[in-house]
Amino acid sequence: MDQLEMKKQAAQAALQFVKPDMIVGVGSGSTVNCFIDALGSMADQIKGAVAASKASEELLCKQGIEVFSANDVSSLDIYVDGADEINPQKMMIKGGGAALTREKIVASLAKNFICIVDSSKQVDVLGSTFPLPVEVIPMARSQVARKLVALGGSPEWRENVITDNGNVILDVHNFNILNPVEMEKELNNVAGVVTNGIFALNAANTVIIGTPDGAKIIK
Ligand code: 5RP
Repeated sequence: MDQLEMKKQAAQAALQFVKPDMIVGVGSGSTVNCFIDALGSMADQIKGAVAASKASEELLCKQGIEVFSANDVSSLDIYVDGADEINPQKMMIKGGGAALTREKIVASLAKNFICIVDSSKQVDVLGSTFPLPVEVIPMARSQVARKLVALGGSPEWRENVITDNGNVILDVHNFNILNPVEMEKELNNVAGVVTNGIFALNAANTVIIGTPDGAKIIK
């Protein structure tokens, strides 16, 4: 079974968590795009969605789903998003699509953070297969890069990418993230860093993994 099929399986399985009249938090990326396609079948049953990126917002609108601002809601029952890596503690690296800041904001509104991935995203140690994205205020790019080098990483500027918030992304290679909670806090404290792609302080509550043997749900 190919990776896209496994993504579709995870996305389809996430529909069982969507209940009538909900406002659904929706992340971004290719797995989430599969979820948005599937969610279209429930467009007339849900109240709407809060989207973590402009790209997801457009796709939700195409499915006839009303999109609310994060400012319009005080909480969400569920938030559904993908990940670039996920460890056994349901902590993640995210931001491959440069939407990490809005993803962290919308995820923090949710009672149940549901991570949908294909099995290739499972790792024991975060940072082992995917560089860590860090969203940075443009004027601070060089000084943040130097700080990341001092912390043992090898940052690479994702040129030609500007986030939905008008910032830049540094992808940090060679970080062995043995203590994700501490590393997330430490990077958040670097002046000029808007968000880092470690999602450990607010890890997922539910993980749905698309595998060659079907979708597996871990609560
Ligand atoms: C975007 C993200 C995505 O969830 C992550 O990159 C996974 O993407 P995909 O589902 O395409 O593999 O964090 O910022």
